[in-house]
Amino acid sequence: MMNQALTHGSDSATVLSRLQQLRAGDAPTHGGRVLSYVYDSGIQELDRLASEAAELCRPLNGLDPTTFPSIAAMERDLVAFMRRALNGDTQRFGGKIVGSVTSGGTESCLLAVKTARDLWREDHPARASELASAGRYPKLVVPATVHAAFHKAARLFDLELVVVPCDPDGSVRARSIIKRLDEDVALVVVSAPAYPSGSIDPVAAVAQAALTLGVSCHVDSCFGGLALPWWPGTPVWDFRNPGVTSISADLHKFGYAPKGVSVLLHRGRVRHRKQFFALTQWPGYPVVNPTLLGSRSASPLAAAWAIVNRLGAAGFQSLTASCARSAASISKTVQSVPGLRVWGNPIGPSIAIIADDRLPETQQVDPHLLVDEMAKRGIRIQHQPGVAQSDGTRLPHSAHLTITPVTEKLLPELATTMRAAADAVRGRPRPSVGVALAAMRMLGYHEDRVPSPSAAWNILRLAGAAPKRAGSGAGAPLPTRMAPLMALVEALPASVGEALLTELLARVAEE
Ligand SMILES: Cc1ncc(COP(=O)(O)O)c(C=O)c1O
Repeated sequence: MMNQALTHGSDSATVLSRLQQLRAGDAPTHGGRVLSYVYDSGIQELDRLASEAAELCRPLNGLDPTTFPSIAAMERDLVAFMRRALNGDTQRFGGKIVGSVTSGGTESCLLAVKTARDLWREDHPARASELASAGRYPKLVVPATVHAAFHKAARLFDLELVVVPCDPDGSVRARSIIKRLDEDVALVVVSAPAYPSGSIDPVAAVAQAALTLGVSCHVDSCFGGLALPWWPGTPVWDFRNPGVTSISADLHKFGYAPKGVSVLLHRGRVRHRKQFFALTQWPGYPVVNPTLLGSRSASPLAAAWAIVNRLGAAGFQSLTASCARSAASISKTVQSVPGLRVWGNPIGPSIAIIADDRLPETQQVDPHLLVDEMAKRGIRIQHQPGVAQSDGTRLPHSAHLTITPVTEKLLPELATTMRAAADAVRGRPRPSVGVALAAMRMLGYHEDRVPSPSAAWNILRLAGAAPKRAGSGAGAPLPTRMAPLMALVEALPASVGEALLTELLARVAEE
């Protein structure tokens, strides 16, 4: 039923009280009990400062920094700060490191791809038209653990995505990537670190090969770009590699800013300017957009600027040190829980947990059952599905933990909760999908055909992932246990699983 206030309006106090009620149903954004999505510095003063800065700049429009020069000033400072943090300050090779503030990681990744594609087209006009007339596209080469934003970029910007399989431990070999590089490659991407595994890709070797071959090389450091610069014992993954042509780093992650702010840096002005869109051929104001959006909020930019100015590099160093201590401690805890192990070799503020497949199945702990059990006990970590790779190997399903400065206070509770949750599900197999698949078939749904919205909703009901009652989602309550749905999605063809998850999310927001 439609909220009556949408027809008649309401007084401010009632509106705010309604919002407070809605917010009460959200997962906690502070305190560290949600180990994904939110990045809590644990410093209340920083949150207050960010709110005040955001409010001060709320009415501005980032569309035009000549009308609102404060926007250009804040952007200059953020780019300068990141250039120094990513060791781009002392670079002479290929021109000055320059860049832009974007609305988030996905936008930074999309722009990195679009920029490289446009440069490639300009540098390879004959090959570009040859490929186009054969109905083919230039390539985007990525490891299997690269963020989904690059799959999105390939679809949006017409690139052929070449996904390089990783080893079962989530690491990718430089050799496997390098052998895919040829003159049709518009961009190769490596991550520092990769979100799913937390490991840093072999940036130096790939960037060197890319430089030799004249291929653009992007380092996706959206996740760790404001932690790795101060993390102990990292390899050289930033602009110190002359072959690295762009880097993305999110201020709304380990920059502790509210959502809506990231930085994309390029080697050289020529590359950076390819990111822009400019148009005089329409009868409105001359449009010059450095990023994908037109009108832009200045609030997240202002909040990030205030935080960076308050903390300085020294502040980030001390917050990162806390994350590093917590990562080491959580890693030890995981290794001490029978049936669990850390996936691969994470370097940075995240860890992924998998079942210890060196033990018999009766002693293993399924990571998705672990996530559901921990959620029951008040700590939310994140399900990550397993993935079948093109070489026939499989990356395991896992549980992701983002480690922030507030995690340190929570370490004892986290360890106790993880142990108790693991004890509760040890030896239990992953939820079976047989019943849901059989029911799907009986009702005439084919598991290899992409379902319509109503068929997808019915399948979700069969799988126990949607309310049984008829009608629309109406802000449908989500299942408390996600492991069965994750198992089903993994068992179905990707396009079908994706349609189910699309339906689930669409119904949550449907009235
Ligand atoms: C490595 C990496 N790249 C890109 C992104 C996308 O960032 P956003 O969610 O801000 O769009 C993420 C998000 O987690 C990430 O971890």
